[in-house]
Amino acid sequence: MSDRTIEALLREERTFPPPASFQRSAVMGDKQIYDTAARDLEGFWARAAEELHWFKKWDKVLDWKLPYAKWFVGGQTNISYNCIDRHVAGGRRTKAAIIWEGEPGDQRVLTYGDLRREVSKFANVLKQLGVRRGDRVAIYLPMIPELPIAMLACARIGAAHNVVFGGFSAEALRDRINDAQAKVLITADGGWRRGNIVPLKRNVDEALTGTPTIENVVVVKRVGEAAPIHIKEGRDHWWHRLMAEASPVCEAVPLDSEEMLYLLYTSGTTGKPKGIIHTTGGYMVGTYQTMKWIFDLAPDDVFWCTADIGWVTGHSYIVYGPLANGATTVMYEGTADYPDKDRNWAIVEKYGVSIIYTAPTAIRTFMKWGTEFPAKRDLSSLRLLGTVGEPINPEAWIWYHQYIGGGRCPVVDTWWQTETGMILITPLPALTTLKPGSATHPFPGVGAEIFNEQGQPVKANEGGYLVLTRPWPAMLRGIYRDPDRYVKQYWSRFPGVYFTGDGAKRDADGYFWLLGRVDDVINVSGHRIGTYEVESALVDNPAVAEAAVIGVTHDIKGQAIAAFVTLKEGQKPGPQMVEMLKEHVVKKIGALARPEQILFAGELPKTRSGKIMRRLLRDVAEGRVLGDTTTLADPAVVETLKARYEEEAG
Ligand code: PRX
Repeated sequence: MSDRTIEALLREERTFPPPASFQRSAVMGDKQIYDTAARDLEGFWARAAEELHWFKKWDKVLDWKLPYAKWFVGGQTNISYNCIDRHVAGGRRTKAAIIWEGEPGDQRVLTYGDLRREVSKFANVLKQLGVRRGDRVAIYLPMIPELPIAMLACARIGAAHNVVFGGFSAEALRDRINDAQAKVLITADGGWRRGNIVPLKRNVDEALTGTPTIENVVVVKRVGEAAPIHIKEGRDHWWHRLMAEASPVCEAVPLDSEEMLYLLYTSGTTGKPKGIIHTTGGYMVGTYQTMKWIFDLAPDDVFWCTADIGWVTGHSYIVYGPLANGATTVMYEGTADYPDKDRNWAIVEKYGVSIIYTAPTAIRTFMKWGTEFPAKRDLSSLRLLGTVGEPINPEAWIWYHQYIGGGRCPVVDTWWQTETGMILITPLPALTTLKPGSATHPFPGVGAEIFNEQGQPVKANEGGYLVLTRPWPAMLRGIYRDPDRYVKQYWSRFPGVYFTGDGAKRDADGYFWLLGRVDDVINVSGHRIGTYEVESALVDNPAVAEAAVIGVTHDIKGQAIAAFVTLKEGQKPGPQMVEMLKEHVVKKIGALARPEQILFAGELPKTRSGKIMRRLLRDVAEGRVLGDTTTLADPAVVETLKARYEEEAG
């Protein structure tokens, strides 16, 4: 398709009705389902739960005492049992559960039977290391099979996992371990990234200089001779040694629905990242049902979510959602451009991937690389495409539909968050006529509204704040060890509803269009970073007096980080300082938080009460006419900054 045709499509505002093949045989093809679920929320979710295994059935589906929900109260289940044993018992022992593609090209397929053996063994290893029901286990691993094995092993014995993305720095890892008070850490000697080694164990050694709760460390040998590591006697143990001696039998423990399944840290508007709590029963039902209906899962599908398991997308749609459904899930260790820019498409071809779930940033990158890379590979196995993480621009949607999906695959644009645990706004591929760029409608049973400042629903096509008006099973149960923040962050902006932090509008046909964050959270390539975190990292450097961080529009990443920095007396601004400060942020948080731009400012624009006006900084960085400056203590400050910025930007 030529660029001109794409432009015509965009102007035409074409809609995409469900293909006939989906209408004929989809898992969920009943239009009434939205009404049914709205009328009887509890009955709706109970029917989904009944498809899963419970050691003891629940007494009550939902106990809703705003802002705390309990789901499947009194029920006992185990998500590891539901992801593994249920399928082994149901005739899928030899079906591929996880297909793993390693970066250097090695591969491993774990059947459901293999998974039961490996997970049971590692559950026994954890027990032997003193891990008990209710304990927290930190996991800092690359995208290797040991990662889901470790998660499922924790779930099997009722310990909560806390996966920390392998791209986080030693300091970020330390903070998360300490907040979670984790007892054991699971890591690897290193990971592969574009042929280089990510020194995970070195980061761990640095992190563990200040983590009093960690008693034992389990180390997977991934890179081996390529990067020898230090093993600390008594604390560090090789994974393969422990596994060699572990018994392959470990029954899954019946857990109460509301027992903690995991903690996952995510950025907020203030303070350090917060530990989002997800529990067993509701999360299991929510990820199971959304996975099945949104991705129209059939027994022979090969599903590939390209996210990292370090983020919620990987938790819910690489591990728990697919495995709860007995599906085949692909995981890939490396990046899309190594050894060449057709790697993703080579993986689709090699394994016959039928459903792919990726992020708009990735799609925009593929667009930039050009159509010759997908064209080199046979993508005819694909039948459904998904996207998540940030708003998708219609151009990227159309490109994805045309060049990856061959014009025949619906695109499900799915909106959700770490906190929501499961997809909440999304098409259903057999029911929804798609509009490129719109996440379309709330999933059945989900209540979403758009409010104005005063908390009233806005009219069609008016922008406002996206709120959630009804509880859903996979919703977060709180912020770990910080109940006040839970209430303040999510339930205080508007009484009685959950505040998402996102802007949205609904068009005249009732379609939702997500407009990005409305708070101090930046979404870089689909990864959430708090402006406050980056500012703290910058002022931690002795050269910096003050810093203000904003998100600026970026062609590929969606948003990029820009920092305005005031240096201390005697410090010299210049390229060297810029580099040094960028590196400092990487050391404090990780490469994902590296600022794209750093601009030195003699002073930052502040109100008379001393508040930095980020809105004006955004105007400066995006080259707009300055907004209202009347509340500034000194309007000249921002004028100077604007002049400087324009000069530097050329
Ligand atoms: O701003 C929204 C954006 O990502 C945020 C949640 O980030 P995180 O908790 O890291 O989870 C990301 C993956 C679930 C949301 O507040 N977001 C996520 N999906 C979409 C989206 N924005 C627009 N469209 C989406 N489909």
